[in-house]
Amino acid sequence: MTVAYACGKVILFGEHAVVYGQPAIAVPVTQVRVAATVEDASSGEGVTIVARNLDVVHRLGDSIQDDGVHPLDLTVRNTFERIGLSEGRDLLIEVSSTIPIARGMGSGAAVATAIVRALSAHFGAGLTASDVSELVYKTEILHHGTPSGIDNSVIAFERPVYFVKGEGPQAFEVGQSFSLVIADTGASSSTREVVRDVRDYWMAERERYDTLFADVGSVAMAARASIARGDTAEAGRLMNVNQALLEEIGVSSAEIRALVEAARQAGDLGAKLSGAGRGGNVIALVTPAARQWVTAALQSAGAIRVIATEVV
Ligand code: MEV
Repeated sequence: MTVAYACGKVILFGEHAVVYGQPAIAVPVTQVRVAATVEDASSGEGVTIVARNLDVVHRLGDSIQDDGVHPLDLTVRNTFERIGLSEGRDLLIEVSSTIPIARGMGSGAAVATAIVRALSAHFGAGLTASDVSELVYKTEILHHGTPSGIDNSVIAFERPVYFVKGEGPQAFEVGQSFSLVIADTGASSSTREVVRDVRDYWMAERERYDTLFADVGSVAMAARASIARGDTAEAGRLMNVNQALLEEIGVSSAEIRALVEAARQAGDLGAKLSGAGRGGNVIALVTPAARQWVTAALQSAGAIRVIATEVV
C-alpha cells in the first residue's frame, strides 16, 4: 500500500482579482490535510475510489448524474494518462481528509493532489510538484469552471506563493515569520457560484470592477514587499484594505463581517475573508501576544473552528 498527503491553504491577498490576471498571495496550511492510499485490489475489481467523508464510492469510468464526470474520476484518469498507464487494472484508492469542505481551504485541490501523489509514488512515476499542479488544475476546472490556478499551485508546491494566472508560482521571501488565526464562519460557499456571480457583476460594470481588481492587485504587490521586509504590521493593515475591497466586490457576508470585527476588537493586526467568500473562513494576522485573545474573541463571535498557523 502507498500513502501520500496534501495540505490545505489560505489566500492571504488577492482572491477573485487573481482570476482577472492580478497577483495574489497564498500559503499552505499544514494543520489540516488529506491522506490518499493506493493498493492493489482483487483481479477483475477495476479501479474503485472511496472518499468516506465526501460520501463517495466511485468505480472508474462510471458516469455520474446527467452524464457528468466525477472530479476524482478525472483526476485518476488524467494521472494514468500522464504516467502512461492503462485504465484496465485493479486498484483501491482511498481518501480521508481533515480539511473542511467548501470553506475556501482548498479541499478539492488537496484531495486531487493527494491522489496524484499517491498514484505517482505507487507506480514510481516521480511526478514533480509542477506536474502535480498541472494535473490538479485540470480537476479544478471541473470543480470551479474558471480557476486561476492558485489553489493547485500553493498545495502542490506546499510553500508560500506569489501567483499570477498563466505564470508559474513565484516563491516569495518571508522576512519574519508571522502568525495567522483561521476562523471558520460555519457557512459553506461554492467557489464556482461566487466566481460566476463576480463575473456577472464585472460584465455589468466592467470599468468599476476592473478598477477594484487593479486595486486588489496593488495591495497584493505591496503586501509581498512588506512580508519580505518583515513588516507584519503593514501586512495586517493591507489585509484590512483588501477586506474593504472584497466588500465592494460583493463577496463578503454578515458572518464574515462579524468575525472580522471581533478580531479587530481583540487587537489583531488585520483580518479578511479568505477564498471565495460568502462564508468560508476569515483569517486574522496576529502578534504572538494577541493570538489567544483573538482566538477567544473569534470563538465567542460564532466561529465553529479556529486554527492557528505560522507562516515561515
Ligand atoms: C479560490 O480559492 C480563490 C478564487 O480567487 C478563485 C480562483 O482563484 O480560482 C476565488
